[in-house]
Amino acid sequence: KGEKSLLSEKKERFSSSGFIFAAIGSSVGLGNMWKFPYITGENGGAAFFLLFIVCLVLIGLPVLLAELAIGRSGRGSAATSFIRAGGGKGWKAAGILQVVAPFLILSFYIIVAGWTLNYAMIAFNGQLFSTSDYAGQFGSFISGYKPIVWQGVAMLITAGVVILGVSGGIEKFNKVLIPGLVVLLIVLMIRAVTLPDAGEGVSFFLKPDFSVLTAESALVALGHAFFSLSLGMGILLTYGSYVDKKQSLGTAAIAIGAGDLLYAFIAGLIIFPTTFSFGIAPDQGPSLIFIALPAAFSAMPFGAFFGGLFFILLAIAALTSAVSLLEVPVSFAMERWNWSRQRSVWILSLVCFLLGIPSAMSLGMFPELKFGGKALFDWMDFITSNIMLPLGGLLITIFAGYFWKGAAEAAGLQARWFRIWLFMLRYVAPVLVFLVLLHTSGILTF
Ligand code: PHE
Repeated sequence: KGEKSLLSEKKERFSSSGFIFAAIGSSVGLGNMWKFPYITGENGGAAFFLLFIVCLVLIGLPVLLAELAIGRSGRGSAATSFIRAGGGKGWKAAGILQVVAPFLILSFYIIVAGWTLNYAMIAFNGQLFSTSDYAGQFGSFISGYKPIVWQGVAMLITAGVVILGVSGGIEKFNKVLIPGLVVLLIVLMIRAVTLPDAGEGVSFFLKPDFSVLTAESALVALGHAFFSLSLGMGILLTYGSYVDKKQSLGTAAIAIGAGDLLYAFIAGLIIFPTTFSFGIAPDQGPSLIFIALPAAFSAMPFGAFFGGLFFILLAIAALTSAVSLLEVPVSFAMERWNWSRQRSVWILSLVCFLLGIPSAMSLGMFPELKFGGKALFDWMDFITSNIMLPLGGLLITIFAGYFWKGAAEAAGLQARWFRIWLFMLRYVAPVLVFLVLLHTSGILTF
């Protein structure tokens, strides 16, 4: 009987600060610590960072607010949120996309979360520094079976949190770890900016050179703002459904955006001074943190400690995001199939774990899992981050901007802000997000 009531309306709720922490926990992830520094490195540093801020504020926040408002007024899972918020049946597919995307993302995101756990361990016990060939070490790590073990560990931790529920699990986990993360970040930032020649890295990150910006950088910045805020994949629709009616969503959106930005900013102040100080190029792409940074840590005093701290921090950032990814399909299974939370969590995390194994192996053990020159892992990333995510974001803006009668009431903004919000959702965001989609899917090239 108790479960039946979940079908009609979600009963679980976040406390008001718990919700902000949980949403920041979702947004602060590998994107901030791993992707943001290297795309900033590739796109010329500070100028790109400013562009990222503009995208985040002008496009990211309106879409973030739209997702939260749709989620809260629907009070269902992401799959039914559009319909519950008053959209017609035609919106069903859009809702399904918002559940499938996070599930697929989780399947490979959790693999990288596992890597960070492994690296934290081998940094603390010194094994990481027993060689100077970090590329070789990373290569042999991902070719073995260990990534799958760590993938399982990361999935178990995620499942363990989600199983405890919205306020007892997700909220508590984030309320402890998100402030904890800031402390770790600040310790590492102080270490980084006091390294010899750290100033060069700081100025690369903070002194803008606008001549390096291209139209492409703008699309990369906007795409990353979406990824970083966890937009377009059902997360904020789902979290929104647990938010109290009295909470101001506009204020929440600003707090979440500011939190995300702050963590990215501090991450930049860790990565760039460290890489510059040790003469490492900051534009090495995804391998930067697993290959280049260990070299830097090995050369600094107490490197094992700071290195271990760094990877712990990455693991925390990744797990708080993984929790939000898992909650989306869990909330769907509870609503659609009437499963209990326990059952939803166990079944979905097991399936997700199994689904991820081929992706994990495609990077090492089974290099045959490659199609058109791209490993399965990279395909999963490509299809979700580059196609589903912008598409999901686009559908949100179109729904909220053109089809949603209840928008004004649900968003709860003052008239002036509401007009600005609607303007962005109608005329600015869809156009730009569509361009991002064309670009990330490879149709629009420069
Ligand atoms: N926002 C998270 C990050 O920056 C990543 C993420 C993306 C999490 C999509 C959930 C969903 O790493």
